[in-house]
Amino acid sequence: MSTLKYPHLFEPIEIGGTLFRNRLFSSPQGFYNLATDLCPGDDMVAFFEAKARGGFASVCVGDCMVDFTRGRHYDWLIPLDNPKLMPGLAKLTSAVSRQGSVISAELSHAGMYALASHLAGAPLYGPVEMEGKYGHVHEMPEEMILETVESFGKAAAFAKRVGFGMVTIHGGHGWLHAQFLSPYINTRKDRWGGSFENRMRFSLAVVESIRRHCGKNFPIEFRMSGSECFEGGYDLDEGIAIAKALDGKVDIIHVSAGNHEIPDSSIITHPSMFKEDGVNLYLAAEIKKHVKTPVGTVGGFTDPAHMEEVIASGKADIINLGRQSLADQDLPNKARLGRDEDINKCLRCCACFSGVGDRRIFYCATNPVTGHEYEDKYLPPAARRKRVLVAGGGVAGMQAALTAAQRGHDVILCEKADKLGGVLRCEENVPFKKKLAGYIEYQIRNIGKAAVDVRLGTPVTPELVEELRPDVVIAAVGARPIVPNIPGIDGKNVLGAEEAYMSHDKVGKVLTIIGGGLVGVELAIFMAQEGRKVTIIEAEKELSLGNPSPHFGALQNKISELDIRVLTSAKVERITESGVAVQTGEGAQEITSDTVVYAVGQKPLREDVMALSRFSREFYAIGDCVAPKNILEATQAAWTIARTIGRF
Ligand SMILES: Cc1cc2nc3c(=O)[nH]c(=O)nc-3n(C[C@H](O)[C@H](O)[C@H](O)COP(=O)(O)O)c2cc1C
Repeated sequence: MSTLKYPHLFEPIEIGGTLFRNRLFSSPQGFYNLATDLCPGDDMVAFFEAKARGGFASVCVGDCMVDFTRGRHYDWLIPLDNPKLMPGLAKLTSAVSRQGSVISAELSHAGMYALASHLAGAPLYGPVEMEGKYGHVHEMPEEMILETVESFGKAAAFAKRVGFGMVTIHGGHGWLHAQFLSPYINTRKDRWGGSFENRMRFSLAVVESIRRHCGKNFPIEFRMSGSECFEGGYDLDEGIAIAKALDGKVDIIHVSAGNHEIPDSSIITHPSMFKEDGVNLYLAAEIKKHVKTPVGTVGGFTDPAHMEEVIASGKADIINLGRQSLADQDLPNKARLGRDEDINKCLRCCACFSGVGDRRIFYCATNPVTGHEYEDKYLPPAARRKRVLVAGGGVAGMQAALTAAQRGHDVILCEKADKLGGVLRCEENVPFKKKLAGYIEYQIRNIGKAAVDVRLGTPVTPELVEELRPDVVIAAVGARPIVPNIPGIDGKNVLGAEEAYMSHDKVGKVLTIIGGGLVGVELAIFMAQEGRKVTIIEAEKELSLGNPSPHFGALQNKISELDIRVLTSAKVERITESGVAVQTGEGAQEITSDTVVYAVGQKPLREDVMALSRFSREFYAIGDCVAPKNILEATQAAWTIARTIGRF
């Protein structure tokens, strides 16, 4: 009998002559913070190495380009056709392999979506001539198809040479393979399109080319969408047929879903916080019934007990973790030790995506180490042990107290309320924020284990600072809601967003929310899910949801699904007992509502910060009391500041 809590999850598996130590794979993730020569640097090495050290059986480097000139969607992707990168890639593959993990290179070509190549002057090519998302798409001539097939084989051979232990063909999500496979796109009339056999031809030729270039004992994983999940795209039945055509020719069939170039389908590829864990498992489970090749599943997995059940019941052979591998690189090792309560579970807030587009870096909202693995590796211990007083037990204060205590300081954490968690506590009973409540509890457990002296019901005053005589004060005192200056705002039917969450029984059947930022929109969804008729009023031209990410797509979907009315470029003139009077481009309107809620932002408690700063020589302010932002910004600042304490 196994002594492991999750024996099936940790049963090693031999695939294509390679031994994988368990069933947990870190699913493909591109690393975009590359230097101008695109060579992997130390931070990229540390990013993937941390996952390997955390116990993943395989770690996949996403979106490596097989044809940089014609096939890249971003500029900052690894070109697998450039020998100058060999030393950097060899360093990366060695760091991951030495940790006992099999490193995979995802072989990608964006085809008709190769925006970066196109912006650099290359025409767009896809299976057929059409007007595409980024401009005119030319039909790939036969010679170019054959050349591209060959480039996959050569890229795989290059990957093998620099130390990758396997390759993952990116055959899903809308990229070139998916374009050939899709009946929606691939209506070519020659042997590469039209019928199912013809649409399969490109992928099968690529598999054959990789085998020819790399030999037998080099695992090939094929990442596919089990269903395209949009009208006109292929469905699960055809997903099964694709898998059957690949069966025995590839070593792993990795079943994802959707097409991230099609808005509604993209949020299926990256399941939102509105979906249950493992929402796309049904695709892999059905495909598994029809093939002998090991099958992987992906999408919204966070809980090892659930993953164990998936493997034990034979629904899949491998679990791939994407965002969860950012939220906790050590999940496999913690699950193996049965320390589930120490696992930081992904919120699916998609903050990781929000920096990708323009800043080329991704961090995790609740795991401040992610994106800073290199810094984390080489931080010297604190030179001096300090007495640290943290004022405020919200997200920032909790993280600062935890990190400072983990660095060996004596930490007192004071919170004026009777619970830790701060303003986020108001959302703890919101069904789609269940994981946020779990995160607060996780941080409280960590704080307990780190022996922080927690004092609840204790506001930090200058007198308290004088009494406790800390070496360092960290102010994390938060912000207060901005009350908009609108006639009628003090009416009995008006509430702030926090109060509306906390006392939702006070909110009537018909609700108007002033403010279409993230807080207003999420509140509107919660209220509509409880059966209310909701209108959002936003002064700007569009809802102010910040950087694009799949979360915003999910919010937009919920807005239409729940029939939430949105008025943009709208100014509230006054609030009355029966609702609000609004001015829009189309003139004045009265919106009848039982309750009006304002969600127009937060004002940092800077006076409190200034008062405290006078009473401690070493003083820092973090989180919303500096500038109200989000969980990601709060934890990043808290972690960074707490790590600098004790340098001298
Ligand atoms: C920051 C980030 C980068 C990603 N990069 C890639 C990539 O390069 N190639 C790919 O096939 N999928 C990529 N994905 C998608 C993941 O591999 C995975 O399919 C998706 O996140 C759903 O799994 P999850 O719910 O466990 O996050 C990325 C996901 C994230 C969050």
